[in-house]
Amino acid sequence: MSRIPLIAGNWKMHKTGPEAVETARDLAQLCSDIQDIEVMIAPTFLSLPLVAASIEDTSVKIGAQNLYFEKQGAFTGEVSADMIKAAGAQYVIIGHSERRQYFDETDSSVCKKINSAIKSGLKPILCIGETESQRADEKTFLILDKQVSDGLKGFGLDELAHLVLAYEPVWAIGTGKTASVDQVRQVHQYLRSSLEKLFSKDFSNQTRILYGGSVNPENAKDLMGIEDVDGALVGGASLDANEFINIIKYNK
Ligand code: 13P
Repeated sequence: MSRIPLIAGNWKMHKTGPEAVETARDLAQLCSDIQDIEVMIAPTFLSLPLVAASIEDTSVKIGAQNLYFEKQGAFTGEVSADMIKAAGAQYVIIGHSERRQYFDETDSSVCKKINSAIKSGLKPILCIGETESQRADEKTFLILDKQVSDGLKGFGLDELAHLVLAYEPVWAIGTGKTASVDQVRQVHQYLRSSLEKLFSKDFSNQTRILYGGSVNPENAKDLMGIEDVDGALVGGASLDANEFINIIKYNK
């Protein structure tokens, strides 16, 4: 079963609206000849509708970086899945390690957010990954197992049809320390077999597993060449369209 690679840019808390629109337009232009690779950018909530409107006729897709799982109500400062969908997004990043680390995101809130994304027709990108000390303590697989099984608890296969998994070792995020090809291969193989055990072989074969953590134009080809790696979730190197395009065109 073939999986179309997804190269996604997580812009985190960067760029004002006009700056985001300018980068998105530049990127869309650079991507005009791209085929067989999906490209997505996730600007801030404030920039999202502006960016979506500015590149709506292009192949570049839009994602949000988070959502709140309630549909609506008295939740000051929060944004729902329906609002994100209506603003022009197709994807939503859920459970990023920065949200787990700084905003008390738990596997149980992650699960509720995935549910809400699915109900609104957004494709969830579930982020998982171990910290440096968890890896040193040989707890990597234990942590990943828990994040996957608790984050995806209670869902049927049909609900998870558009799920994307993103393995982002916390120690490799924004540090310039990329996981080695062997480390990434080992974890992605493991995740592929976990999805098979938890759900089914078909599901495991169809689900894209991205790698994230200091991906850049220099290491993209090696990382993307790993069998069970189906794309990348890129932070810093996605902020500049000319740099990001060199990751997107890793095979050229
Ligand atoms: P960097 O590419 O800046 O390491 O960030 C990765 C990331 O967190 C993407 O979600």
